[in-house]
This record gives sequence, structure tokens and C-alpha cells, in this order.
Amino acid sequence: MSVVDEIKQRLDIIEVVSGYVTLKKAGRNYKGICPFHAEKTPSFIVFPDTQSWHCFGACGTGGDVFTFVMRQENLDFSAALRLLAQRAGVSLKPRTEADLAEDKLQRRLREINETAAQYFHNLLLNSTAGETALGYLSQREINRETINRFQLGYALDDWQALGDFLQERGYQREDILAAGLIVVREDSSGHYDRFRGRLIIPIRDERGGVVGFGARALDDSIPKYINSPQTPVFDKSALLFGLDLAKGAIRREGLAIIVEGYMDVLMAHQHGVANVVASMGTALTETQLRLLRRFSKRLALALDADAAGYQATLRSMTLAHETLSERVVPVPTPRGLIKYESHLDVDIRIITLPQGQDPDKVIREDPALWARLVENALPIVDYYFKAITSELDLDSPKGKAEAVRRLMPIIQEIGNAVERTHYIQKLARLVRVDEKTLLHQAGMKDKRAKRYEEKPVLSRSEGKESRPDRDEFTFGPEEYCLSILFVRPHLLGSLDEALRDVGVDGLNVDDFTQAENRAIFASWREGLELKESFREKLDPTLHPRFDLLLAGPKGAPPLDDDQAERALIEGGLRLRQRRLQRLVEELRFLQTDAEELGEVVIEEYGQMVDSYRSALWGISRALAARSFFGRREARIPGLVA
Ligand code: UTP
Ligand code: MN
Repeated sequence: MSVVDEIKQRLDIIEVVSGYVTLKKAGRNYKGICPFHAEKTPSFIVFPDTQSWHCFGACGTGGDVFTFVMRQENLDFSAALRLLAQRAGVSLKPRTEADLAEDKLQRRLREINETAAQYFHNLLLNSTAGETALGYLSQREINRETINRFQLGYALDDWQALGDFLQERGYQREDILAAGLIVVREDSSGHYDRFRGRLIIPIRDERGGVVGFGARALDDSIPKYINSPQTPVFDKSALLFGLDLAKGAIRREGLAIIVEGYMDVLMAHQHGVANVVASMGTALTETQLRLLRRFSKRLALALDADAAGYQATLRSMTLAHETLSERVVPVPTPRGLIKYESHLDVDIRIITLPQGQDPDKVIREDPALWARLVENALPIVDYYFKAITSELDLDSPKGKAEAVRRLMPIIQEIGNAVERTHYIQKLARLVRVDEKTLLHQAGMKDKRAKRYEEKPVLSRSEGKESRPDRDEFTFGPEEYCLSILFVRPHLLGSLDEALRDVGVDGLNVDDFTQAENRAIFASWREGLELKESFREKLDPTLHPRFDLLLAGPKGAPPLDDDQAERALIEGGLRLRQRRLQRLVEELRFLQTDAEELGEVVIEEYGQMVDSYRSALWGISRALAARSFFGRREARIPGLVA
């Protein structure tokens, strides 16, 4: 991922824009008075789903969080980059050769995982051997739609099947090994498949790329699950299973529910409860919570009934720690959770499941009960009050002392003083002791307890977190157009003419959605006018991208002038087509929102849609004519559509 992507991923556009514009929620989007032109009725809209904004009023501008800050603060790209990087806590170290090599490796591993997922899926659906796994799924009441949506698969009970398949497909053994799909034999005489005779559950990052797998035994074998090991693309502690499919629902409902297991997620989604993700049985990390926070500030953790009791016991343990932690607990300590809450500014609640039940079962057998459990989720501290005191006799002096001993450290983690006082009062009432005594005793205890302080909340080390990116540098229409323009700037005139022919403006910065491309295009245009070289003027973070663009798509044949012109025009038309389609889609969203809210649908929206549609019609006709008359070789080579 590029620094720009990383920054975007960490920041919420709503939050950034709210710093300058008063936003009001309107349906799933946010509305405000446009800061870039004078207006009385709000036509400035921010779209959380796409993390973009657009003014549907007089100025008609739009873009992402970068464009917004650049315009608002009147900054160039570099300055906006520095500002937002700091705000997002992303470091701007220049990327080294090693970073680039790491990027390439990650790209290969993702591709291998993707291929393996298809292979497993195909075996599940179309092989005789896969029938047992299909039978298992139907016994678990997982239906076809879920199988397809999650691309579930089956690994043959064979030592070589996947390794051989992937090597036949041309992948290198070292890469397959690095992806964790094969394992080297102890005597290093060869390798064997990691997943054998199991149900396969592909694990995706939030953008839907396969990064690893969970593989469930089809019987009571141990271990129940075998997962991908840590690899350059798979870090269990930084992922949430199901997030790619859940993020829309999380945003819409303003709530993310975290469960433990793969099966819980499958069943929840199958029943239309789509705001559910799984922590995959490991303790929740700050990285995971940060990831979720981008979609909603309200989080709820589904815990089984004995989790808190367990935590309480854990707190009083010093030595037995190691042996006990064999059982994986889905939450960090209560104190850890409370820290997260104030630190990340999220609202974390706890859903308590009835004894011996898991979300899979509850959702399958009693969806109404599930809804009620979610509804009754308790704030963390209240939850611990309830869980901890439920097993104590609060009438006895021993019980009271124990309640204080367990609850005071939790209360003291609360960052907000008003809230903290509220809970001290609550505890005081509960044990019928006055607040001062509680505070006094806690003060003394605090010093002694320091020695047994649990490890700080788990968080990925800084270095790891800012590791270089996994994203592919592929040539899409934006990159393709740029790469032609850099080599043949004179062709810009022909492209502008083609665009004007269909009744729209010439190419401009808004045709580019990627912040880096926008910045590069803008300075290129400026350089063109001033007739000077612009690479030096570019922010150094943009140099690698610029160089890649200049080099052009890998493996594409060189174009002659005529071919380049055709390719550029086709690419440019596509860019404009995409932009107008996006606008039409946004407007459609706005209209639905307005209808749902019972607002009068603003007539102008309709008119805008009409005018964009007619422009789109012109563009499709131009594109069709080009591919019809155009010679085959004039079609864009090397372009990933
Ligand atoms: P569960 O045992 O609750 O798994 O562990 P589950 O997904 O509900 O599976 P079923 O219903 O028993 O079939 C919760 C999660 O912990 C991780 C997995 O991510 C699992 O989904 N886990 C569990 C492992 O990684 N390995 C194991 O051996 C067990
Ligand atoms: Mn289960």
C-alpha cells in the first residue's frame, strides 16, 4: 500500500471534514454548506462509503480527503501529505529498494493465495472427494449462497496436490512456501501441502484480497483448525475475518459486532446479520480495533458467559498465567479494553451469550434472541460489574472486599473523570462503603499491584505497522493515460478535442481519483504551461510512482504515435465515463436518501443525472465507434480494465 493509501485508510473523511464544515447526517451520507463557494442550502456531500466528497452546487468540485485538505488549507500535495501523515500517524520515510522488493513479494503471495482459493473452491463444488465436505457443510446448515459468497473450498487429502498444481501454474516453490501453503519436510527432502482433507475458509483483508486460510477438520480431529502461518501478507492479529463483506453493513448500522469464530461469521451473514466479523480466536488487538473504527465507532464484542469470570480469575493470578493462557481469550484484559475505548475514542459494549451458546447457534435457532442480546449489550465497565459481582456474596465482608479488589483497578483505568466517579459511586453503593474509603484503599493498593502489572495491551510494533505496502502497482486507465502523456505531451490536445466532441470538458485533474495521480497530473500540467521539467518539483514520495509511470506498463509493446493517440483517447474517454458514472451513482444515493428521509427530492439532482446521462451516452457511442473502426492493435495493450 502506498503511503497515501495508508493515510486514507487510517483517517475517516467525515472526521477530517467535520473539522472545517458542520456536517449533518442525511441518510447514509453527510451534508453541509460547501466551504468552497457561497451558498445557503447545503449541497456539499461527504460519502463515507467511498471516503469521498462532492459539491453538487455551483462549484461542482469533489475528491478525496487529500483534495479536500489541499483546497481547504490551500496547500500543495506535499504539504497536505505531511499534514495528513502526521494526523494519521504514518511516517514518511522514503521507500528503499528493499521496500520495493517486499512489495513485489507480497503481490506474488496474494496472487498465489487467490489462485489457491479458486482451486479449493472448485474442488469443493466439482469433485467427488469434495462431497464429504459439502455434506459436512449441509449438516452445519451452511447453504450454497454462503459457500459461494465466502468462496469456501476443500483441500484434497493428499500430500502434494496443491503444491503440484501451483507449480504447474508456474508459481515458484519459494513463493508457495512463503505463502504458507506448503511445508518443508524435516529432513528437507521435499515439501508437502499444509492443508489436507479439510474444509477451506479463505481469509481476506478488508478490500477482499485473499491473504490466508483457515482449514477446519471435517470430524473431531485435533487441531480443529489449521490456519496459514504468519506471512508477509497474513498477520492474524491485524485482520478480521469477514470484514470485506461486513464493512458496508457496519457503516450502515453504525455498529460492528466481533465474534470469535469463522462459523459464527458464516452463519450470521447467512441470516442477513451482516455487520459481524471474527477475531479468529486470538485476543483483540489495537490494530484490529483501529481497522473497525474506520467503519463505525460503536463496537460490540460477543463473549460467552464465562469469559469475564475467567478474566477475573486471571487478574488474581500471578504464577499460573502461562498454563492458563492455553485457552484463547478473545479479549485483552478489561483494563486493556477500557484503555482502547478512551484511546481510540470508540464505544465498546459486551454482548453476553447464554451459557454454552455461541453466535452461530443463537442466530440459527433464535434470531430474535440474538437481536435482543445485541440490544442489551452492556458498556464494558457495567459488564464487569455484573460478571464479577454475580459470583460474589456482597453481604459478606469477604465478598465486599473481593468486589472492591477486582473492580477498583478496572474503574481506575477509565480515562474520563466524570465516568470514573460515576462507577466509584456505583461500587460504593454496591458494597455499602463510602467513596473516600474506596479511593483511599485503592491508592495504597495501586502501588503494590504495580509489580504484577499485566503486559500492556497488545499492539503491533510501530515498525511492523508502517511496513511497506502490499498493493499492486497495476496500470489502470489513470496510470495508462498518464504514462502516454508523459512521453507524448502533444497528444493532450487530441484527447481534449475528442472529449469536447462528445460535449464535455477537456481532461482535468478530477478525472483522476487516486490522490497521487492527481498530484502528478496537476504538476505535469503546470510544468507543461511553464515549459519546464517537473519531476524535481514533485514531492519525493511521488518519484517512484512517476518513474513507474514513465516506464510504462511492463511487457507492453511500444506504441507508434498513431497507436498512442488512439490509446490515449480511448483511455481518456474511459476516465471521464467512470467519473460521470460515479457522479450518477452518488446522485442516485442522494435521491434514495432524500426519499427515505421524506425530504422533497431536490429537482436539480434529477436534472444533473439527466445531463450526466446524456454525456455518458455520447461517450459510449464514441468508445463503440473507436473499437469498431479502430485497428485491433490500437486497442489499449497492457491496460488492466
Ligand atoms: P471455535 O472453536 O469457537 O470455532 O474457535 P468455530 O469457528 O466456532 O468452529 P466450530 O463451530 O466449532 O466448527 C473460534 C476461532 O478460534 C480459532 C478459529 O479462528 C475459530 O474460528 N481457532 C480455534 C483456531 O485457529 N484453531 C483451533 O484449533 C480452534
Ligand atoms: Mn462454533
